[in-house]
Amino acid sequence: MSDSAGRHDGDGESEDAVRPPEPDGLPVLGNVHSLTADALDFYERRADERGGVARYDVLGTESYLLTDPHAIRRVLVEDHANYVKGEMPREQLGSLLGDGLFLAEAETWREQRTAMRSAFFRERVDAYGDVMVGHARTLAADWDDGDVVDLDEAATQYAFSVLAEGLLGDDVERERETVRAAAKSITERFDMRRLTSFLPEWVPTPTNRRYRRRLDALRDTLRELVAERRQAGPPTDPGSADDLLGTLVVAAELGAIDDEELLDNAVTFLFAGHETSALGLTYTLHALATRPGFQERVRREVTAFDDDPTPAQVRDSPALTAAVDEALRLYPPVHSFFREPTEPVTLGGYRLPAGVVVTLSPWVVHRDGRWWEDPETYRPERWLRTSPSGEVSVGDDTPGPAVGGRPEYAYFPFGGGPRHCIGMRFARLELRLATATLLRRVRLDPVDEGLTLRASANTRPAGPVRVRVHEPDGRTVSVDD
Ligand code: HEM
Repeated sequence: MSDSAGRHDGDGESEDAVRPPEPDGLPVLGNVHSLTADALDFYERRADERGGVARYDVLGTESYLLTDPHAIRRVLVEDHANYVKGEMPREQLGSLLGDGLFLAEAETWREQRTAMRSAFFRERVDAYGDVMVGHARTLAADWDDGDVVDLDEAATQYAFSVLAEGLLGDDVERERETVRAAAKSITERFDMRRLTSFLPEWVPTPTNRRYRRRLDALRDTLRELVAERRQAGPPTDPGSADDLLGTLVVAAELGAIDDEELLDNAVTFLFAGHETSALGLTYTLHALATRPGFQERVRREVTAFDDDPTPAQVRDSPALTAAVDEALRLYPPVHSFFREPTEPVTLGGYRLPAGVVVTLSPWVVHRDGRWWEDPETYRPERWLRTSPSGEVSVGDDTPGPAVGGRPEYAYFPFGGGPRHCIGMRFARLELRLATATLLRRVRLDPVDEGLTLRASANTRPAGPVRVRVHEPDGRTVSVDD
């Protein structure tokens, strides 16, 4: 992929900066047809054709796909104060996530993030380790030698159970069906293959109506759970809450958030946290099934533990860590996210007006041949380095940034800057503990070699992701596939 306009990386203001070339596409509708046909392919082609700042329009909204890692860093880190999440995500997700952490802006966001930080400190996240391992054990116990398993379904069930128990307590298990129904409606509502996903929520399509009904039911359920917690007498300090709902109830008692924000955040965590992690696990396991040699290498690493893995052990497991980090590169669960400049900005040598949509796409950048050799191939080895003390992964605790002189933002599956994913540590631990626990028990063979993905709110598989599970039978598998 090249910057076809030949412009520089775009740090700093530029007097003679010009507007990027006008989009193609139809009047009014803009590029919406190409986006609904295949958004991932559209973004990739747009980046190839137009370079580092590629204009496209969606139903009259002026949008710019930003693919240069330095410019991305500028938006997320250095100049983050000049950007908001903006209208577009709010129009799409506002009814779901309200004023929760994901959409909140400015001071409201800062207060919420501060109130919730402690729930994601390493010790607190490590305390969920047993839950993460326990549900993986339960999953494997359901599998018999030779079974064909749909990883998407299995991982969704797994990640949902972990989040339910780890963050919202056992209570959510009781309401599993309400939550599942809401989750299904949300996936449907944000399926970018449907033209209706670009329509505002108030347009009374059957999908929108079902979505509204199920979301209302979910909020009623959460309201009841919060009331029960309050009656039981919440802890007084956020650091001592057992789970995330507890942290939220304490934050409300201390006045950091109001009752509606409490509910918005409970929904935010449930949905920001479970589908993304499920997709990360699906893609890691499927990719390992297609690389039997590397799968064996991970298995040897994790069967060296006396028992099921602990958080400290998986952090110290380079091949396992590389397997996960590489899956999040090739198949980032969040294919793109958005910002809106609050004043005119210069990016990639171009002048963008305030109020436009700036699209940041891990999908496109993670597959850019300028930063990644053989970008479309799953190659976990690219994350491994040999050090005097043996093999290490470049990203033992946080996902590995620059390897081989690559810019930091050539890899950003969890976003970046002050608004990076608050659940990153939780998700990376969960993905490694689940993969390790499962690979101690089963060998995975691919049923479908290829993976067809489509853009919904997240990067979803187009169909089932099937693998065959076997008991590891002592068969010799070469680690050099
Ligand atoms: C593999 C799993 C995950 C991926 C790939 C992922 C990805 C992301 C990305 C890219 C963002 C930044 C969005 C933006 O800047 O607009 C984000 C934000 C966020 N994520 Fe995650 N996430 C994952 C797991 C989780 C989990 C497990 C939780 C909660 C337990 C969570 C909660 C959130 C929240 C609340 C935000 C908004 C943070 C803020 O704006 O301050 N995520 N995530």
